[in-house]
Amino acid sequence: MKGIEAKAVIGTNSWGSKAYGKVLRGSYVEDSIIIEAMREAENKGLMIYDLARDYGLGKAQKMIGEFGTENIILSAKFTPMKHYKKNCVRRSFEKDLADFKRESIEIYWLHLPTDIEEHLAEMIELYKEGRIGHIGVSNFDLDECRLAKEILDKEGIPLYGVQNHYSLISREWEKNGLLDWCRENGISFWAWAVLEEGMLTDPRVKTKFSLMKFFMDRQKRKMRELYKVMIAVANRHDITVPQVAEAYCANKGVVPVCGCRKPKQVSELAEAVQIKLTEEEIRRLEQAADSSNAKVMGHDMFRILVPKKRRK
Ligand SMILES: NC(=O)c1ccc[n+]([C@@H]2O[C@H](COP(=O)([O-])OP(=O)(O)OC[C@H]3O[C@@H](n4cnc5c(N)ncnc54)[C@H](OP(=O)(O)O)[C@@H]3O)[C@@H](O)[C@H]2O)c1
Repeated sequence: MKGIEAKAVIGTNSWGSKAYGKVLRGSYVEDSIIIEAMREAENKGLMIYDLARDYGLGKAQKMIGEFGTENIILSAKFTPMKHYKKNCVRRSFEKDLADFKRESIEIYWLHLPTDIEEHLAEMIELYKEGRIGHIGVSNFDLDECRLAKEILDKEGIPLYGVQNHYSLISREWEKNGLLDWCRENGISFWAWAVLEEGMLTDPRVKTKFSLMKFFMDRQKRKMRELYKVMIAVANRHDITVPQVAEAYCANKGVVPVCGCRKPKQVSELAEAVQIKLTEEEIRRLEQAADSSNAKVMGHDMFRILVPKKRRK
């Protein structure tokens, strides 16, 4: 499969499930709106969709399979919730293909750093069979990324990317050297939750109550200075506040994976990654973000799901 240069990626975690949409996001979006958003994405040249078996409480993969995956690029994952068991990746992969109504998947990620050697060995087999185009790792720290690269290097397979939590207010992977390592090794860094589940959107826009928004409100009060800077940058470029958060990532050489359910969100994302921020704007955004001291779920929040190493 040919190389994939990602500029921005559409996240599907909040697609599908009514319960998830209403409880967590405050609203449920009809399938017809999501189909419109996919059409808008095609018009704007956004072709990559990020998925996993549990997204939309298990509905997102099936939905996209129904909508049609002929003209899009799929980024999907194997999620190890337990220790490695023989053929677990292959079995899960076959289910993914059935959901997508596909014979192959362009990018396949190991979702968590559990039993890295064993899980990657199965992904390598699928790669060699031509059923996976590119292999990536997600929620890995620098040492784990190095190990993954070493395993793949031995097989002559490039590590395509690292997909971790990163945003204007969660930049630990930049501070601890992972981002530089990716850059030095030509590995794409994808950032999930660039809008921090809605925290980095416009505080002046009122949205419906949801559990997520209830928990965010306390943090948002700490972010008044950051919002002021984001609004000033947005006004200068004639863009929206969430576009500033998306453009910030793109300007740092990071690929934003953004939870889009509506056509406008897709067109804003496509436009945002073309915006060139000045060094001064980036400095002011980072300064305000650092001094806001807002607490978000950590950059390595999913490590809690990684079972302790087996004793050898
Ligand atoms: N690899 C991993 O472990 C991992 C973990 C988590 C997520 N992810 C990926 O990352 C993706 C993004 O994360 P996410 O969906 O949880 O959160 P997110 O992208 O940080 O935020 C989504 C929220 O932002 C709002 N939004 C999106 N675009 C907007 C725009 N242009 N203007 C205003 N508001 C906008 C959405 O509004 P509405 O509510 O109105 O739609 C929603 O409330 C996921 O879908 C998934 O693909 C990966």
